Amino acid sequence: MSVPLELTGLTKVFETTSGLFVAVKDVNAKVGAGEFVAILGHSGCGKSTVLSMIAGLAPPTYGGVIVDGTEVVGPGAERAIVFQSPCLLPWLTARENVRLAAAQRPGTTGRQQRATADHYLDLLGVLQDADQAPGKLSLGTQQCVSVARALSLQPRFLLLDEPFSQLDSLTRFELQDILLRVWEESDKTVVMVTHDVDEALYLADRLILMTDGPEATVGESLVVPFPRRRRRASVLGHPEYHRCRRRVIDFLEHHAHQSRPTVLDDLIRRRAVMH
Ligand SMILES: Nc1ncnc2c1ncn2[C@@H]1O[C@H](COP(=O)(O)OP(=O)(O)O)[C@@H](O)[C@H]1O
Ligand SMILES: [Mg+2]
Repeated sequence: MSVPLELTGLTKVFETTSGLFVAVKDVNAKVGAGEFVAILGHSGCGKSTVLSMIAGLAPPTYGGVIVDGTEVVGPGAERAIVFQSPCLLPWLTARENVRLAAAQRPGTTGRQQRATADHYLDLLGVLQDADQAPGKLSLGTQQCVSVARALSLQPRFLLLDEPFSQLDSLTRFELQDILLRVWEESDKTVVMVTHDVDEALYLADRLILMTDGPEATVGESLVVPFPRRRRRASVLGHPEYHRCRRRVIDFLEHHAHQSRPTVLDDLIRRRAVMH
């Protein structure tokens, strides 16, 4: 397996008002061509920090992101990112948002950019909404437009930062299915950040499980054993499904940050004070 994407000793230290904060430390991983990898971990553990370093949006403090043997020093057209919120330009239509990204490919005419935009909007099933302003569209449709915008850059790497986490579960299932079909028909390498165990098991070839922060790092890597051209029902009914799910949940429970108070802890403490 060739290794087009490699993370070597990736570390990010933030300067905060209360001192230096080591968010992620010594993250090492290899991603093969055409692989679909999910990075899974608790909220706040450092998943977005890792993805933004892969995208070249934030420089690592130590270590590096290597694409085809060359260290990443900034954003590049071969790596497109989709964020948790759609972030579309509100004064442009859905089509114009996607066309703007397509226009970043040098030497394309306006007609070609529009055709590219329509192709990807169609692929994501939202071509009928092309003339609408983002504010007129549902969150799910806006996220489809965001994925279409990322694809219209024709990247080799699609970086997804919890793109469906704000959607209701039925819309999330629908968009996961669309993403799966699009990826199956392409040769793209996907790195998707998520904290949804079922989403990761349904979509990914391999899960990278992160320990909780600070100093979050790769704790385990798990190969997802379900055969490709997956369908949700067959994945859920696969004899290995519950074993995999249990293993991931056990890992996450084991690596939950002990000192972080939860809402429940807080309620219990208050009740104790009241009685
Ligand atoms: N710019 C920043 N300055 C200081 N701390 C940050 C900054 N960005 C993220 N962090 C902290 O780094 C940790 C990881 O954040 P993040 O990567 O957003 O987590 P995740 O995506 O897993 O929810 C969190 O504790 C967060 O508060
Ligand atoms: Mg995040």
